[in-house]
Amino acid sequence: MSFNEIKGRLALITGASGGIGAACAHQLAQHGVNLALTYSTNLTAMQTIVTDIQLKHTEHKLRISIHQVDVGTASQIEKMFQQIDAEHGQRPDILISNAGYGKRIPDVSEIPLEEFDYTININLRASFILVKGVVDHMKSQKWGRIIFMSSIAAQGGGINGCHYAASKGGLTGIMKNLSTRLAEYSISVNDVAPAMIGDTGMLSNAAAFPEVAASIPLGRLGTPEETANVVTMLVNTGYMTGQSLLLAGGLK
Ligand SMILES: NC(=O)c1ccc[n+]([C@@H]2O[C@H](COP(=O)([O-])OP(=O)(O)OC[C@H]3O[C@@H](n4cnc5c(N)ncnc54)[C@H](OP(=O)(O)O)[C@@H]3O)[C@@H](O)[C@H]2O)c1
Repeated sequence: MSFNEIKGRLALITGASGGIGAACAHQLAQHGVNLALTYSTNLTAMQTIVTDIQLKHTEHKLRISIHQVDVGTASQIEKMFQQIDAEHGQRPDILISNAGYGKRIPDVSEIPLEEFDYTININLRASFILVKGVVDHMKSQKWGRIIFMSSIAAQGGGINGCHYAASKGGLTGIMKNLSTRLAEYSISVNDVAPAMIGDTGMLSNAAAFPEVAASIPLGRLGTPEETANVVTMLVNTGYMTGQSLLLAGGLK
């Protein structure tokens, strides 16, 4: 296999029932990548996405599994890996740690400690646990791709409070560290940092936040497909590692 051959690989995408995760699943399926997809509460959306992918990409004969996981609970992540072992006979070659959560509380005085801890658990701690579940397999085959879904919040921007910023900023720390430690195994580690992506559970459309939408220099929201474009580019481009790619319509 060449450095960037991804057909036949297995990708784990968490939060694939949501806007960005589903778009990533569609794009990787187009490249012939087998999929282990997770959802938390929205089984109906997950089933619809899988049916759609299977209908569109019959030529690849894809192996697709779905797993219900609350990524805030380590034992559920462990159970998911056992299911993946059974259904795919291997651990993932590609990890897209995308499942995320962010209750909008801009004012630090109003962020309860419990909300801070919960947000860190879902957005940061889960990614650490997920990496531990895939990294030995990636090291042993000397090939892997790890991509975290971060946010403009990691760089201090965005519409949410510091609990969300901390959870996403922590991902950049993990990403930078792992990119240096894992390069010798041909494992690339990057994050994508979007802002104001519409058609998602986090942001349905521009009308939901008119002032913020109006401040985007490009004059529109981003799309889940554009976010997936960046993820797919990273999966296809193993020479790029240690990068946080801002996708924000000109916002800083
Ligand atoms: N939309 C934006 O503008 C934007 C900007 C910056 C960063 N992001 C990041 O992009 C990622 C994807 O979000 P999205 O915009 O696509 O929103 P979304 O449509 O709401 O998707 C969120 C996904 O995460 C899953 N999820 C939420 N809590 C979970 C938990 N405790 N355990 C497991 N899965 C959980 C959801 O599952 P169920 O629906 O099945 O419950 C859903 O699949 C997130 O990490 C988010 O922080 C989004």
